[in-house]
Amino acid sequence: DTPELVDRFGRVARDLRVSLIDKCNLRCTYCMPAEGLPWLGRDELLDTDEMIRLIRLAVESLGITTVRFTGGEPLLRKDLVDVIAATSALPGNPKTSLTTNGINLDRFARPLADAGLNRVNVSLDTLHADRFRELARRDKLDAVLAGLRGAAAAGLHPVKVNAVLMRGINDDEAGDLLRFCLEHDYQLRFIEQMPLDAQHGWDRDQMVTADEILELLHREFALTPHEAERGSAPAERWLVDGGPGTVGVIGSVTRPFCSACDRTRLTADGQLRSCLFSNTETDLRGPMRDGADDAELARLWRGEMWAKAEGHGVDGQGFAEPSRPMSAIGG
Ligand code: GTP
Ligand code: 5AD
Ligand code: SF4
Repeated sequence: DTPELVDRFGRVARDLRVSLIDKCNLRCTYCMPAEGLPWLGRDELLDTDEMIRLIRLAVESLGITTVRFTGGEPLLRKDLVDVIAATSALPGNPKTSLTTNGINLDRFARPLADAGLNRVNVSLDTLHADRFRELARRDKLDAVLAGLRGAAAAGLHPVKVNAVLMRGINDDEAGDLLRFCLEHDYQLRFIEQMPLDAQHGWDRDQMVTADEILELLHREFALTPHEAERGSAPAERWLVDGGPGTVGVIGSVTRPFCSACDRTRLTADGQLRSCLFSNTETDLRGPMRDGADDAELARLWRGEMWAKAEGHGVDGQGFAEPSRPMSAIGG
């Protein structure tokens, strides 16, 4: 047994993405229906100790060096600060980050930073309050903006901003979003919309592609390729008007980065996924609750990764959307 999570294509997972909760306090139209989703029950969710045990296993025995916490909305999880403190204190001090919608981040940024959190990515698709209310179905733009300021003030650098551009909805805001982020020193990344919404409403023809995003930006800015090593990062980055500001494009669909993927995923109910788009999962919660030891859980984890597909095939024939929606995987 190697201590690492390797797959049949020679990729090594170093980055663990943990979805801590499937619930969210927004209802983004590209993610979930207005009424929400059938949330996981209390007993289905891993508790704090179970969560920390699996993260510890990944870091101590399986070669994981970075851990990202996602949701749903991870700030809704009451033990978030504890889980992050426990993770940061593990041997090797893994790098920790959080992907959040930003609500309540103004209050939590400081305690999270004190617990060892390294950085945050915040979703922000529009700067117009009325449009935010339509897109996220909640009147929370000011809360998100306060969260961003709080993160920067707490030293969670770099603060990254994720924006999903949608045709005829917010694609007129590409320039304004970038100017806003440059002004506040947030690293903006535009994301191609992926077929991961619970309602299965994704439409390939409606997607604003990476090419189109770059074309929109070129109208207002001079972009030059950023020299920094991209590694396994989903975002291709560009210097804006000579720098130092940058903008990123995450072309998940038209410019897939699967060949450099270094990710493994754990859901809030203790299922392993080798890929965002997996159609199979490996249950760790059941075995763990039945008394499995760490060696057995590690064996299951290696098995899940060995079965990882070469690519997601979103743009190919016969692609099947995963049955678990984005909000329960964490992106
Ligand atoms: P950093 O670049 O390290 O800050 O993280 P990140 O960009 O991977 O994390 P984030 O959670 O902010 O995700 C940004 C976007 O990338 C989201 O839309 C994710 O769904 C998408 N994404 C993250 N990981 C993967 C992946 O493995 N495959 C694909 N196709 N998309 C991903
Ligand atoms: N396609 C692309 N990005 C998405 N996100 C949520 N749903 C989708 C989708 N269908 C984004 C969120 C968040 C990040 C984790 O993924 O806006 O920033
Ligand atoms: Fe919540 Fe994120 Fe889904 Fe929006 S995209 S509803 S913030 S989980």
